[in-house]
Amino acid sequence: MEWTREMRYRHYGEMTDAEEKDLLEKVNYSIWRQQFHIQPPYGLLNDPNGFAYYQGKYQLFYQWFPFGPVHGMKHWYHVESEDLIYWKDKGLGMAPEYDHESHGIFSGTGIVKDELLYLFYTANKRDEDWNRESAQSLAIMDRNGRIKKKEIPIIPKQPEGYTANFRDPKVWQDKDSDTFYMIVGAERMNHTGCALLYKSEDLLNWHFEGELKTDFEQFGYMWECPDIFQVEGKDVLLFSPQGLEPDGDSYHNVHNSGCFIGYFDKEKHYFQSNFFQELDAGFDFYAPQTTQAPDGRQILIGWMGLPDTSYPTDKDMWANCLTIPRELYIENNKIYQSPVKEMIAKRGSLTEWRGSLNSEETILEDFSDAVYELICDMSVEEGIAGLKLRTGKEEETLFYLDTKRQKIVLDRTKSGAPIAVDYGTVRQTTCTDNKISLRIFVDTSSVEIFVNDGEFVFTARIFPKEESKGIKLFAEDTTASFDIKKWEYITQP
Ligand code: FRU
Repeated sequence: MEWTREMRYRHYGEMTDAEEKDLLEKVNYSIWRQQFHIQPPYGLLNDPNGFAYYQGKYQLFYQWFPFGPVHGMKHWYHVESEDLIYWKDKGLGMAPEYDHESHGIFSGTGIVKDELLYLFYTANKRDEDWNRESAQSLAIMDRNGRIKKKEIPIIPKQPEGYTANFRDPKVWQDKDSDTFYMIVGAERMNHTGCALLYKSEDLLNWHFEGELKTDFEQFGYMWECPDIFQVEGKDVLLFSPQGLEPDGDSYHNVHNSGCFIGYFDKEKHYFQSNFFQELDAGFDFYAPQTTQAPDGRQILIGWMGLPDTSYPTDKDMWANCLTIPRELYIENNKIYQSPVKEMIAKRGSLTEWRGSLNSEETILEDFSDAVYELICDMSVEEGIAGLKLRTGKEEETLFYLDTKRQKIVLDRTKSGAPIAVDYGTVRQTTCTDNKISLRIFVDTSSVEIFVNDGEFVFTARIFPKEESKGIKLFAEDTTASFDIKKWEYITQP
């Protein structure tokens, strides 16, 4: 589908060429445009959608509101990649067309059948009194990239006992049969969150099987973006529960994402697991979605942003980006996330440093940069030691190990323009080692820090000044040793 002037008029009224030019200038001159993350051409991006491997390429869409950095009527924007690294811009994927989707085509997923890509999404409508109506809908993309929506939703509304917060279908094929399953995020009438299970033989006709039972009956008020998949033979239920209260170091963002690892019993409609793992220890990470690569790896991409949050780029008329793709594996019954192996190809020139610090701070003169990959193995005797990224006049993003408190900490208090400060500017998680290995990806306005081969990940947007490019190491009242490699990130395909 082309983004035409006619559609623009229909949805937003007249916009002159001069106004459009002005909009694009604001975006393109924004000092925080990312260099290697998927970001919207303008307007607001949120969840990744329809992630699937089809016709030899990864197809990926994202929730997009074209006009303004706000959560308006959502579209799907389309990008495509052969290697998960370089993403080709395919333009608008889908726009709202029908009455039942008049207030946005919301999140959903993709699955390939009979050489076609089936895209399932939520049709969102508000009536005159602003009451929500949600239906699950289907669009089909053919090998020429043409996407055609079915006029009639495949599931017209939520079943009895649930509110209209009924969205984000994920569809997969049973590994032992031809049967397809769908789960949809939902809210019970008593305002608790859950997922609903449907079954189909042909992807067109769907039967409601019942609620997917778990051992977490009372766990937030709404479960968004559920996803079920397998990693190393274990079933994983990934979702984004809304309304969890902070608990120790967990759940400090407005909403949070995580997973159960266990066993999906399709006969009993039960997902057995007694532990919810929060997936990211940082700030801006929500609504992740996965797909399976042809070599069997389960690849995850998340929204590097949060609902109900404004960002400093709003004034430049764009907001948010996606994370880099991560591959999942399991260790000690926990999901580990590491950057997809393809990222290695983007390593440019290398700078290295090795040494010890004793109660001091040093700036790595040759390292200054705003876009790079960095690997750091560090060990701390007893106390606090770590890195300061994107440092400049009164700016720094701190990441350190505190062995006395047994915490690893990301502190964006002085990172630059403030973001969601009411939710705090420091995140931490427990780490009992005094040695850690870090793999860090820094882009113009983000950091993604993978600790101990993906045991913990800290994801955060940061909005420093352009000239804040310093990298420092520090050890506070202790001795620490560092072994650091930094590669320029090659941004050209
Ligand atoms: C998650 C979410 C989904 C919904 C979409 C709308 O961020 O709220 O539940 O489908 O965003 O843009």
